[in-house]
Amino acid sequence: MAGERVRWGILATGGIAASFTADLLDLPDAEVVAVASRSEASAKAFADRFGIGRAYGDWASLAADQDVDVVYVATPHSAHREAAGLCLEAGRAVLCEKAFTLNVREAEELVALARERGLFLMEAMWMYCNPMIRRLKALVDDGAIGEVRTVQADFGLAGPFPRSHRLRDPAQGGGATLDLGVYPVSFAHLLLGEPAAVTASAELSPEGVDLQTGMLLSWESGARALLHCAINSGTGVTASVTGSAGRIDVPGGFFHPERFVLHRDGREPQEFAADPVDGPRDSYRHEAREVMSRLRAGATESALVPLEGTLAVMRTLDAVRSAVGVRYPGER
Ligand SMILES: NC(=O)c1ccc[n+]([C@@H]2O[C@H](COP(=O)([O-])OP(=O)(O)OC[C@H]3O[C@@H](n4cnc5c(N)ncnc54)[C@H](OP(=O)(O)O)[C@@H]3O)[C@@H](O)[C@H]2O)c1
Repeated sequence: MAGERVRWGILATGGIAASFTADLLDLPDAEVVAVASRSEASAKAFADRFGIGRAYGDWASLAADQDVDVVYVATPHSAHREAAGLCLEAGRAVLCEKAFTLNVREAEELVALARERGLFLMEAMWMYCNPMIRRLKALVDDGAIGEVRTVQADFGLAGPFPRSHRLRDPAQGGGATLDLGVYPVSFAHLLLGEPAAVTASAELSPEGVDLQTGMLLSWESGARALLHCAINSGTGVTASVTGSAGRIDVPGGFFHPERFVLHRDGREPQEFAADPVDGPRDSYRHEAREVMSRLRAGATESALVPLEGTLAVMRTLDAVRSAVGVRYPGER
């Protein structure tokens, strides 16, 4: 595929499917060739809106389309296992939205399937592809703040989300943890790896999904991460990582920052700002470029968003849900 355009298929026609497709259309080396929905009318409307040639009223037809190099799965999390599995079974590479699946068991099944078929699979954890987050990670790895001791991060939306919204629906994997908590958790994993222990406390909705959850992750080094997510509380969405020799503060929208500040003991604070050539801070182009460059290289996974990292994050999310008592229909 070296040098060629990568041909994308879009699976689902909701909010993020539209945002991601719009970004793909800005990339000269990407082509969106097909879209699939549970309904033919939705697929057709989406195809008309974005000028996409093929519109399917079922997922299997997209999975079987030999002209599609990679499918972007943008259903609610509850359908990720089925939709991504269908595509992998049919020989398609997959970029699958976060949270990757409902639980680690489903994630392991997808990873095993991709490995068995020798196909590319990646979680759409766009934060890991963001240039500013990569810069922050490089600074921490280079010892800019010494040994990491504390990570704080939060992602809370005020809502209110009506009971009919997917975020309130257990059948669609609703709740704050899988939708929003996955960002603070992935941020802590990026800097410290998988924790040795996880504790959490949540406020649950009458339907049994978490409205807000506080998490405490611990590592054997002594490091701690204090994380929070909410679908009933509009928090600052900030992050901070503190080490033995300093601290990095990331302001609102920490998972796609425009700037962050490095505080080193005994020195003036140093501000790092996004390069304008990297485009708008809410761009999904970085993750799309990562997928395409890996596909062209013949790789089956991304070094920026490795599958072992996705599995580790899913284990932490499972531990959080277990601690607070959120279970989805059909989960053992
Ligand atoms: N990376 C990001 O920044 C970001 C942002 C938002 C959301 N997300 C993730 O993307 C996924 C979708 O979120 P969204 O906000 O786009 O949701 P959404 O607006 O509700 O769209 C989800 C789409 O999935 C399809 N779908 C398939 N099975 C469904 C079911 N059982 N019930 C309802 N819809 C179903 C529907 O499309 P059809 O009618 O065409 O079948 C629906 O429009 C979630 O996993 C979420 O965590 C990521």
